[in-house]
Amino acid sequence: MIKNKTVSSSHYEVEDDLIVPEASDHFVVTSYVKEIIERSLVYLNAGYPVHFAGPSGTGKTTLAFHLAAQWGRPVTLLQGNEEFVSSDLTGKDIGYRKSSLVDNYIHSVLKTEEQMNRMWVDNRLTTACRNGDTLIYDEFNRSKADTNNVLLSVLSEGILNLPGLRGAGEGYMDVHPDFRAIFTSNPEEYAGTHKTQDALMNRMITINVGLADRDTELQILHARSELDLKESAYIVDIVRELRGNDHETKHGLRAGIAIARILQIQGMKPRYGDKLFHAICQDVLSMETAKIQHAGQSIFHKMVEDVIRKICPPVGSEAVKVSTKIKVVE
Ligand SMILES: Nc1ncnc2c1ncn2[C@@H]1O[C@H](COP(=O)(O)OP(=O)(O)OP(=O)(O)O)[C@@H](O)[C@H]1O
Ligand SMILES: [Mg+2]
Repeated sequence: MIKNKTVSSSHYEVEDDLIVPEASDHFVVTSYVKEIIERSLVYLNAGYPVHFAGPSGTGKTTLAFHLAAQWGRPVTLLQGNEEFVSSDLTGKDIGYRKSSLVDNYIHSVLKTEEQMNRMWVDNRLTTACRNGDTLIYDEFNRSKADTNNVLLSVLSEGILNLPGLRGAGEGYMDVHPDFRAIFTSNPEEYAGTHKTQDALMNRMITINVGLADRDTELQILHARSELDLKESAYIVDIVRELRGNDHETKHGLRAGIAIARILQIQGMKPRYGDKLFHAICQDVLSMETAKIQHAGQSIFHKMVEDVIRKICPPVGSEAVKVSTKIKVVE
């Protein structure tokens, strides 16, 4: 039996069995985030499943956890998986339990009775439907489309089909009225994702989560790294500049958070000319930019160097560059 988890908006911990989510101190709420959460709550309230779709590192999973925490019901977490079959969602027979009773009370009479009971173990979707939990199905399109078919009747008719229990007269289960589902997915072109059947997409309300605005990104980076806000702004601007208008590099929020955390732990500041800082940026940002080639050579190195020079004050300087404006939203 797979356990339910405690969730907060940014993390979850495995606990005993069932649990109510709690809000996280580290979750950043800007007007951008607030607007998405408020809209999502309206949809959940009307009984609709919510689906956060978007590129990697845009905050979908974090939003899903936070939304579930706001909704306030216990949470069951499912992570999409290529290997899953429907029974990994619903549950399965684990065989029969045989019990026998031997009654030899009167020594000349021997009475025996045998009983066979089917043993069924719920998996997480069934548990959530039974208890009226909030199901977070993270990266659901990593599971194959036909694995997820079982969700069709859950989401539209409020019925969970349990073929494995049909023989026991329990082939269907009514979904608890409090059951809600929150999905996240990466775009279909991502490696390891599957195209979702339209019928399933039609049954959920999809909110496209793109890259956050600069202020949201700055607040998140600052909250996650605890690097000074002014210094965090340099990192945010480096990452945003490298993304360019055409999103030349596809870094989400994680790369900036990683650079800021490393600097914070090392007691460093983002300064042009600080060799270690340059190297950290090259290492963290290279994953995507290394793909950009010119005459057979990766041009990411020069791009990153140019952007650091443009954005960061030189070593030894405390001056805030004019381009790095800081706007704090309460
Ligand atoms: N509102 C927020 N407040 C604080 N931190 C956030 C917020 N949104 C995102 N983050 C942080 O940004 C990073 C990326 O977020 P998250 O993992 O939710 O992205 P994702 O879209 O689910 O990415 P992937 O598609 O790769 O799973 C995480 O470190 C997360 O903690
Ligand atoms: Mg995610």
